[in-house]
Amino acid sequence: MRIAALKERAPGETRVAATPETVKKFIALGASFAVEQGAGAFAAIADEDYAAAGADVLPAGKVAEGADIVLAVQAPDPDALKGAKPGAWVAATFDPFGQRERVDAYAKAGFEALAMEFMPRITRAQSMDVLSSQSNLAGYKAVIAAADQYGRAFPMMMTAAGTVQAARVFIMGVGVAGLQAIATAKRLGAQVSATDVRSATKEQIQSLGAKPVFVESVEGIEGEGSGGYATEMSEEYQKAQAELVSSHIAKQDIVITTALIPGRAAPRLISDAQIASMKPGSVIFDLAVAQGGNVEGSKADELVEKHGVTIMGYANTPAHLAADTSALFARNHYNFLSAFWDKEAGKPVLDEEIGDAIRLTEGGKVVNQRLMENG
Ligand code: NAI
Repeated sequence: MRIAALKERAPGETRVAATPETVKKFIALGASFAVEQGAGAFAAIADEDYAAAGADVLPAGKVAEGADIVLAVQAPDPDALKGAKPGAWVAATFDPFGQRERVDAYAKAGFEALAMEFMPRITRAQSMDVLSSQSNLAGYKAVIAAADQYGRAFPMMMTAAGTVQAARVFIMGVGVAGLQAIATAKRLGAQVSATDVRSATKEQIQSLGAKPVFVESVEGIEGEGSGGYATEMSEEYQKAQAELVSSHIAKQDIVITTALIPGRAAPRLISDAQIASMKPGSVIFDLAVAQGGNVEGSKADELVEKHGVTIMGYANTPAHLAADTSALFARNHYNFLSAFWDKEAGKPVLDEEIGDAIRLTEGGKVVNQRLMENG
């Protein structure tokens, strides 16, 4: 069983899908491991560290040679997999809805594409969930980046020269990223409030010591779809939420938006008029900017100034903390493959629940139900 980890080629991608720690663990399972030269350069991992862990460090044309499994953060073009075994597995994020042609290319090339972002949201798969591990650190980074951009302090400070007021931070969307954003803003001493369409998040917000801001009057909307994800909301709810948010937002210094709906463009949460109601010097960080954006006018990797408010967001937030996000991504890969490792066969054998959820292509065909239904 040979596993290969490639250097990422997508613009701005700094992460890597294996670390010396996971290389060692895969070798302990009986696999051999190849890592592409320079793969860890932006995640503070030198080629020598991979070699010391037991990996063969090889150039681009050679790294996939004889591989049964290829690991990546973002799925490579199938052309980059020259020499991999026919039917080899490629475990990575595929953006299957956005990059459908690439999925077709994988089917044509005869590889088995395993989309890590389709990992089911079940307890036993939590340690394999790249969306969670990456969102968690992204939520942290969003607050740090917004705090850095903000021309004032976060905590209240009583000094001999007078008092500095605490910043008011509002988190919109309380999934994995939002929860971490709340915790981070609290640690920095801000006054934190948060909202979501899923009413289950109310208690979570309170348990972190933040104030929940919720639409109470609209009935029959739980906002929770399958697998704990949000569903698209009714018009009535959207209107009520927009009103509530408008009055709240006008009093905020920092807003972090994290709202996503799987397989769709990110919901619009903040309009130009709401931005105009904020105080000059306020900062909005749009974590969903790469998925279409929660904030009107936000642009990936640009500081947009509107009505004296700075709107920011990164195309790839996890790439801004590559050493930590890579370590967690690599562990997600390891936790996934090792959980299914069949000692006798010397390779992983997936079960139906997880295998069928994440497998996009097999035997030259696109086989994924979710992709075929919604793609
Ligand atoms: P996500 O990244 O899909 O969305 C972020 C948040 O935005 C969600 O909380 C969503 O409800 C919210 N949102 C969507 N539309 C909104 C709107 N119009 N206004 C305000 N908020 C809006 O969500 P994420 O972080 O992936 O987590 C979703 C759920 O899945 C959570 O309950 C989480 O605990 C659960 N989960 C379970 C896992 C497991 O059991 N293996 C792993 C990861 C998450």
